[in-house]
Amino acid sequence: MNKVVLVTGSNSGIGLALCERLLSQDPEGLQLCLACRNMRRAEAARSALLTSHPTAQVSLLQMDTSSISSVISAAQEVRLRFQRLDYLYLNAGIMPNPQFDVKAFFKGLFSSNVITMFATGEGILTQKDGVTPDGLQEVFTTNLFGHFLLVRELEPVLCHEGRTSQLIWTSSSNAHRSAFNLEDVQHRGGTQPYSSSKYASDLLSLALNTHYNKQGLYSSVICPGFVMTNLTYGILPSFPAFLWTLLMPIFWLIRMFTNTFTLTPYNGAEALFWLFQQKPESLDPYAKYHSLTSGLGHNYTQPRKMDIDLETSESLYEKLLHLESDVRKKLQTEAPHAPIHPAESESS
Ligand SMILES: NC(=O)c1ccc[n+]([C@@H]2O[C@H](COP(=O)([O-])OP(=O)(O)OC[C@H]3O[C@@H](n4cnc5c(N)ncnc54)[C@H](OP(=O)(O)O)[C@@H]3O)[C@@H](O)[C@H]2O)c1
Repeated sequence: MNKVVLVTGSNSGIGLALCERLLSQDPEGLQLCLACRNMRRAEAARSALLTSHPTAQVSLLQMDTSSISSVISAAQEVRLRFQRLDYLYLNAGIMPNPQFDVKAFFKGLFSSNVITMFATGEGILTQKDGVTPDGLQEVFTTNLFGHFLLVRELEPVLCHEGRTSQLIWTSSSNAHRSAFNLEDVQHRGGTQPYSSSKYASDLLSLALNTHYNKQGLYSSVICPGFVMTNLTYGILPSFPAFLWTLLMPIFWLIRMFTNTFTLTPYNGAEALFWLFQQKPESLDPYAKYHSLTSGLGHNYTQPRKMDIDLETSESLYEKLLHLESDVRKKLQTEAPHAPIHPAESESS
């Protein structure tokens, strides 16, 4: 039976490169579903994939992970279309209005932290977050909470006795414990919502393993490395394209010292692709799987222990469940006849 794979944020960058790699490996053995917020971009991505793999099964799903109602109706659509979901790649992500802290950069350049700074962006990136129409922080909702809700909504197709399914989060090396606060999981009061949301996804993945492994559902996180995509170009939006091109040889040089400079979406998708081929039971729930590229351009995946603990992951999980319950109650008030949980709609 064909494996069903859903990838969020798959119309560009690492998500699209993953789809291309999956289809190159097995063009006819997959049912690939591209979940994107913009259908014009999604259609262009589908056409590109079908150009290289004309017989592939590629469908589209409209979903904006920053919108509660969009996630819920997209999940409903998935439950109607597919009886089971084997792989759910939680890849959509934003880093809005990034500010490059030049002072912190030059300070870091002459410190012992210089390699870490280049490899993870630690300390040099801040963002201005927004608030969604649902009243939630935009980065938190897009990168984490929308995906959490999606997983909860898709339980009926993800959890089946006698077989396993995988959740695979595109996290980042920029996920730092110092940016995350359990008392402010949405990061309303900070300037590093991106780092906070990615650290939260590391924690959440651990909690999901705790709560869902018995039902055959496994969760892992990856870091794609530093990849040139719309997201990275957005860090310096006023930087002309030719300057990025001029910087490329320097980036290739940096790769001699840090294998995290994967640079191309194809290389960045390495760990996502590698996880597709693993038995989920064999994976380490405390590891982040890194896409790495050697100085000579060889791609490989390496697990590295995450700076996370079970207690904090459980506390975050509880908070997300509370928030989920709040948003569902709010939805019920606005649309009293809507089912409160997927299990309800399935039984009615
Ligand atoms: N590039 C890097 O160096 C790097 C490093 C570490 C982690 N990451 C992570 O990698 C993932 C993919 O990013 P990328 O680098 O490939 O950048 P990208 O090309 O900008 O891809 C991001 C994808 O997410 C989608 N997206 C954004 N907001 C969304 C929303 N509200 N609902 C649904 N889809 C949404 C985008 O759709 P639109 O085209 O409509 O905007 C796009 O398809 C992200 O989670 C990012 O945080 C990237």
